[in-house]
Amino acid sequence: MRNVVFVAPFPLETTMRFARAVGQLPGVRLLGIAQEAAGGDDRALFADVVTVRDGLDARQLVEAAQLLAKRHGGLHRMVGILEPLQVSLAEARQALGIPGTNPVTADLFRDKGRMKDELRRHGLPCARHAVIRSWADAEAFVKQVGFPVVVKPPAGMGSKSTWRIENVDELGAALRALHASPERPALAEEFLRGREFSFETITIDGRVQFESATRYYPTPLEVMEKPWIQWVVVLPRTIDGPDYADARALGVKAVTALGLETGMTHMEWFRRDDGSLAIGEIAARPPGANIVRMNSFAHDTDMYRAWARAVVDSAYDGPYERKYAVGCAFLRGGGRGRVRAVHGVDAANARVGKLVVESKLPAPGSPKSDSYEGDGYVIVRDPDTEVVKQAMTTIIETISVEYA
Ligand SMILES: Nc1ncnc2c1ncn2[C@@H]1O[C@H](COP(=O)(O)OP(=O)(O)OP(=O)(O)O)[C@@H](O)[C@H]1O
Ligand SMILES: [Mg+2]
Repeated sequence: MRNVVFVAPFPLETTMRFARAVGQLPGVRLLGIAQEAAGGDDRALFADVVTVRDGLDARQLVEAAQLLAKRHGGLHRMVGILEPLQVSLAEARQALGIPGTNPVTADLFRDKGRMKDELRRHGLPCARHAVIRSWADAEAFVKQVGFPVVVKPPAGMGSKSTWRIENVDELGAALRALHASPERPALAEEFLRGREFSFETITIDGRVQFESATRYYPTPLEVMEKPWIQWVVVLPRTIDGPDYADARALGVKAVTALGLETGMTHMEWFRRDDGSLAIGEIAARPPGANIVRMNSFAHDTDMYRAWARAVVDSAYDGPYERKYAVGCAFLRGGGRGRVRAVHGVDAANARVGKLVVESKLPAPGSPKSDSYEGDGYVIVRDPDTEVVKQAMTTIIETISVEYA
């Protein structure tokens, strides 16, 4: 039996999909570290769970893991999928001598300033940026690149506290909101204009084995700026052609430049109107926004399992044929409050229902989410990318969420 520790502060459905994949691997005893242990059917997945006060704290992770090792024997791997967990997880693994991404690499994938320095050092294009410790830093950066700029936390997630800044007043407000200071610097970046995409890999022992990409409609920043927009992610049927060739090459170089050995990666990249590329950011963890699920549908395989095989067994069972285009529309609407009704579902079903492979409708009564992922989603698939795109348009034009 190989003891695999899965760290997840909370048993969210999107997280538990990965825990289940690990638990279902043959010869694995799944152990958990959590603030809140999984309930329901998921409870039985874990042979043992240690609860901690702060599931993101490296010291508590080490102590909990030591307790698990005392009860069950040596630990084979220690894994988790959340973005803010990756550095603590790496530190805990290092302290315990468990193989996996080391803290230096984990930090390069997490700290957007250092990430961009390292990418640029390898000649890979990304937005110009500056670490902002003072008003003078901010003024100097704006003088260099001009407005608009983007201001964000150096290691944020979910596009939270990330703003497009058009003038000095907005710059001041953003830096105040982030409490930017020498101890708590903010990050400023040149504003990239163009279309935004993602690029995913499964990488084993430093070699990229699997590649995938999606297109975002529109950019997550715009979705955050306009709370009525229903965000759409489209995974095109093929990324083998010239449209994606340069971006794929760039993505593979980025993974290698930051030194990842084994895991799933998720990069965001821009294609500017002049055709040039820029890396937005890259994370050493599986993507959110249902992109793993979408890859399962596209390749007719279980991509959660593929992730688990990579991080637990350092193995890749592909290549997987990309058989379908897949789209995900995230449902929401204007207004505030709680979900009152979801309109247009029957009409959308009549038009594109046969393409739908999974959906989760917003639950009446639940508070409006502040995420670009909205309050529910619909996933469709078809061999033809254009059919998927049209279905996405139909869904977001037909379904609307009402709040009160
Ligand atoms: N320099 C930039 N130029 C243009 N847009 C940007 C820039 N930086 C960020 N954005 C926009 O803001 C979004 C969020 O930024 P970023 O990805 O750095 O933050 P994040 O919090 O890690 O996001 P998430 O977790 O949603 O991927 C991006 O997806 C992009 O739409
Ligand atoms: Mg991002």
